[in-house]
Amino acid sequence: MTEAVKWVVEDAKEKGILWPSDELKRKAWVSDESIYELADKDPVTFWATRARVGLDWYKEWDKAYEEKLPYFKWFIGGKLNACYNCVDRHIKTWRRNKAAIIGVREPFDEPSRTLTYYDLYREVNKFANVLKSLGIKKGDRVSIYLPMIPEAQIAMLACARIGAPHSVVFSAFSAESLKDRIMDADSKALVTCDGYYRRGHPVNLKNNADEAVNGTSVKDVVVFKRTGQEVNWVEARDHWWHELMAKADLYCEPEVMDSEDVLYILYTSGTTGKPKGVIHTTGGYLTQAYWTTKWDFDLHDDDVFWCTSDIGWVTGHTYNVYGPLSVGATQIFYEGAPDYPDRGRVWQIIEKYGVTVFYTAPTMIRMVMGWGEEWLEKYDLSTLRLLATVGEPINRDAWMWYFEKIGGKRCPIIDTWWQTETGGTLINALPGIGPFIPTVAGRSFPGTRHEVLDEEGKSLGIDKGGYLVQKSPFGPGMLRGIYKNPDMYQENYWSQYGNGAYFTSDGARLVKKDNFRLTGRVDDVMKVAGHRLSTAEVENAIGGHDAVAECAVVSAPHKIKGETPWAFVRLKSGEPSDELTKEIMDHVVKVLGPTCRPDRIIFAKAVPRTRSGKIMRRILKSLAKDEPIGDIATIENPECVEELKKLVGYKETT
Ligand code: WTA
Repeated sequence: MTEAVKWVVEDAKEKGILWPSDELKRKAWVSDESIYELADKDPVTFWATRARVGLDWYKEWDKAYEEKLPYFKWFIGGKLNACYNCVDRHIKTWRRNKAAIIGVREPFDEPSRTLTYYDLYREVNKFANVLKSLGIKKGDRVSIYLPMIPEAQIAMLACARIGAPHSVVFSAFSAESLKDRIMDADSKALVTCDGYYRRGHPVNLKNNADEAVNGTSVKDVVVFKRTGQEVNWVEARDHWWHELMAKADLYCEPEVMDSEDVLYILYTSGTTGKPKGVIHTTGGYLTQAYWTTKWDFDLHDDDVFWCTSDIGWVTGHTYNVYGPLSVGATQIFYEGAPDYPDRGRVWQIIEKYGVTVFYTAPTMIRMVMGWGEEWLEKYDLSTLRLLATVGEPINRDAWMWYFEKIGGKRCPIIDTWWQTETGGTLINALPGIGPFIPTVAGRSFPGTRHEVLDEEGKSLGIDKGGYLVQKSPFGPGMLRGIYKNPDMYQENYWSQYGNGAYFTSDGARLVKKDNFRLTGRVDDVMKVAGHRLSTAEVENAIGGHDAVAECAVVSAPHKIKGETPWAFVRLKSGEPSDELTKEIMDHVVKVLGPTCRPDRIIFAKAVPRTRSGKIMRRILKSLAKDEPIGDIATIENPECVEELKKLVGYKETT
């Protein structure tokens, strides 16, 4: 059991700011504030030392950093293998039989499946040989469409072992979404399973996979048998995982990878209707994954880490695979839902496995707040010693509830700001240094630099809202490009302020020296329950429904999910009805997946337009947010605004 931490709450001026106790400082990997200054004096040397100390390299780099914006490289000429660093090196130590992954299933399906580092080593080696037997070579892309089962990590690490970049697709994405991602990546193979359990019911995943691979470059589909349900089968193309594994050799030599070789591609939503393939390379990414895992979550060998993200998002990549496994940690990997068989499931898992470090999204906290304290009280949560959040801004109430009710006022809250593009966390308080301020993420990770700029690019001081940028030298885990789309890479991240600053598309303000509060996206990307989604994707999906003439999707605030899509729809003909609303919502689920379902469909006779015919999204956004509508002088059809106000229940509070 972790000893209670004593908090130092500062005087009236900084009321509510918490600092780590001496006890926490003593335990933490870093507790001396001078680390920031030291790293900032020479970030390149700082990261080079981190890379040397944290990872095993076959050959050291010739040069630590090179920048020719918008491109930059880390550890040029260095050779390593990410899988070796996550698995092989641990089996040479006492960690050989340490639990690497505790795969927790739904209760009717228990016991959980624990893989030690040695188990993981054997599975990964065999699966790497399976991929090789299918003709996958270094540089070939492999798509992975799996639920939260340890085979996801095994497949990813096997790809890394042979140098084949993986492209993991969230298992709740639709067949069409999977197809788009397979096509863009030109994947040679797909790894999937027959199905998985969701709240006690088997869900068929193979059907989606079948629909997706038709007409693509995928030659082989490897299917893990999870539920044993009936599936369609295409001879020669489909292979059972267990049959191939039974024939596979026990050892596969890891490929010697260049530091800048691609480790993976991960598709994420931008402002266009198509997801973009974010490229991450090997040496820099793994360095950031290793050190952010170790320092942010303060992981020690006796910790049990639980990151609740799905493997299909970047948080799942960095903090369910490359981070915790490279540091040799024990982690929980949970396949089920948080409310099945009842709303105590999360707390029951924490009690049962003695979880010490818990990393989740603010949406999850707001959801369990709504379920009530009685569920928490049934379980012993005293093993928890550190809590963390990611994915969206956290509101004060949720922060306080997390701190008081879940953490029992003992645990620091580490609010980590980062993006698919940044590869690992970048802005947060460090547990042994603090401070921990509700709604404030904290400081730039040592060796990285961020600023808040105004529209013109002027750096803003304390308490002025602006745009968050990153400055040179860029974090080692940063994206190295957009797959097959250099123009989009330049345009999305490097054009806003010229080539000197990486534009995050996030609003921010400095609230205290060096401490950033993040205020949300400033583009048309939404964070719905922490999931990243573009309004354009949902618009395209709705626009594809036969009855729809035109559609505009905007983000509306939501008490639990943070944000949610609202769709303003003009019909070609016919009348609005509940059936049609349902049909359009179902259509979005079919095209994109259930996480993208709009919260409201608002059938309008007209949407506001400029004289040149463009939809005025600004007005729709204000309606959804209940904010002042502003100037409507430039609207071609101002009469529609009154109708829309009535339809959405606009209160005109200001
Ligand atoms: C938002 C998730 C406030 C932000 C790792 C960013 C946050 C986007 C935080 C990236 C946080 C992430 N506080 N906002 N702690 N963390 N965000 O690519 O808007 O799914 O740009 O990566 O999430 O989302 P993505």
